Order: sequence, then C-alpha cells, then structure tokens
Amino acid sequence: MTARHPRLRDVELSDRDRLRAWRNQPNVARWMYSDHPIGPEEHARWFASAMADPGRRYWIIQAGERPVGLINLYDIELECRQAGFAYYLADEPARGGGLASWAGVQVLDFAFGELGLMRVWAEALVENVASVGYLGALGFREAEVLRGHVEKAGFSGDVVRMVLHVDGWAGARQACRERLAARGYDVEG
Ligand SMILES: CC(C)(COP(=O)(O)OP(=O)(O)OC[C@H]1O[C@@H](n2cnc3c(N)ncnc32)[C@H](O)[C@@H]1OP(=O)(O)O)[C@@H](O)C(=O)NCCC(=O)NCCS
Repeated sequence: MTARHPRLRDVELSDRDRLRAWRNQPNVARWMYSDHPIGPEEHARWFASAMADPGRRYWIIQAGERPVGLINLYDIELECRQAGFAYYLADEPARGGGLASWAGVQVLDFAFGELGLMRVWAEALVENVASVGYLGALGFREAEVLRGHVEKAGFSGDVVRMVLHVDGWAGARQACRERLAARGYDVEG
C-alpha cells in the first residue's frame, strides 16, 4: 500500500472564496446549523473576524496539492483549557479514506500538546451519523444531547455534544494511528 501524503496548512487570504464555495455546497451546508446561501459580504465579514480572532484557528486539509477541506478549533479558552473542534471535507471523493481522521489527529495533538488543553468539545446534529462516528473514532464520547438546540428544516434540531479529555487522548491517538497506518498513511513522527 502506498503511503499517503496529506498535510495541513494555515488558511490564507487566497482561500477566502474557496471557503465560501465549500460552505455553500449542499454536502457541507446540510450538516451545519445554518444552511442559507452565504453571500460574498456575509462571508467577507465572517472571514475577517475568523482570521483576527485569537480564539479560533483554521487549517486547510490538503490531499497532496489538492485542498479538500477545513478543520478548526474555536472558542479556545486557554484559562479554562478547553476548545471546540469542527471540520468538513468538501471534496466528496476525499471522504471515507481516513483523511479526516489524519487531520483530526494533527489538530488534537496541537490542542493537547502546544495549547495544553484539558478537553476538546464538538457538536453534531444527531442525524449526522458520519460526524458522530468520526468523533467516536477519535476518542470523543457523548456528554449530552441538547434537545431542540437548533431550528433546521428536515432535522429534529437535537444536537449531540461530545467531549475528549486529555487523559483519553494517548490511547485514542494510538488506535487512530494504527488504523491510519493500516490504510497506508505515514504516521511516523
Ligand atoms: C464528518 C466527516 C469529516 C468524516 O469524514 P471521513 O472521510 O468519513 O472520515 P474518516 O475516513 O477519517 O473516517 C473516520 C471514522 O468515522 C466514522 N464514519 C465515517 N463515516 C461514517 C458513517 N457514514 N457512518 C458511521 N461512521 C462513519 C468511522 O468510524 C470511520 O472509521 P472507519 O473508516 O475506520 O470505519 C465527513 O463525513 C464530512 O465532511 N461530512 C460533512 C460535513 C460535516 O458533517 N462536518 C461536521 C459537522 S458537525
């Protein structure tokens, strides 16, 4: 099996239009809390505040040279040592092969290592079985279900809130890395 060569890079100004296009794709917007078409002005405001906010960090997921998705930490609270975690692969063919898991391992290593966090949170619509499964594979566990947390046509509005504690990360990380290695990812280093 050939080793895969994914990488993460910081979001740059040149990604701004790409991120609006991705966020408006039905296969991404469907799983977000809001799914109205985002216009250039709304997006420009969001992008400017996202880049300026020290409580947020965004990375582009690259499959080789191809940008395929976004992964980020938000509500980073260094005093309470916690943050939120969010992600999507906009490129449908990039899904299902472990790339999101690989990216998740990098970001969680950063969160628990460099940032020194104690816990990372994530939320997903209860109907989003791929996202809930993904979080479970990274070691997140269900903390609570927020009934009627969002209003979204075609969905219950219930949201599952999941948490990963630093104590659980070493074991979950090892299991993830073994699964990724079996899929041909170079997980050394
Ligand atoms: C969530 C998402 C990033 C997962 O991407 P992915 O490419 O499937 O992730 P991986 O290939 O790394 O899969 C990791 C694990 O997730 C779980 N998983 C993925 N898809 C699943 C599905 N449809 N049902 C159940 N579990 C699933 C599996 O446990 C999988 O491990 P396995 O392949 O060893 O069984 C992707 O589906 C996506 O971008 N969805 C749309 C956007 C979105 O929902 N973002 C999150 C909003 S909360």
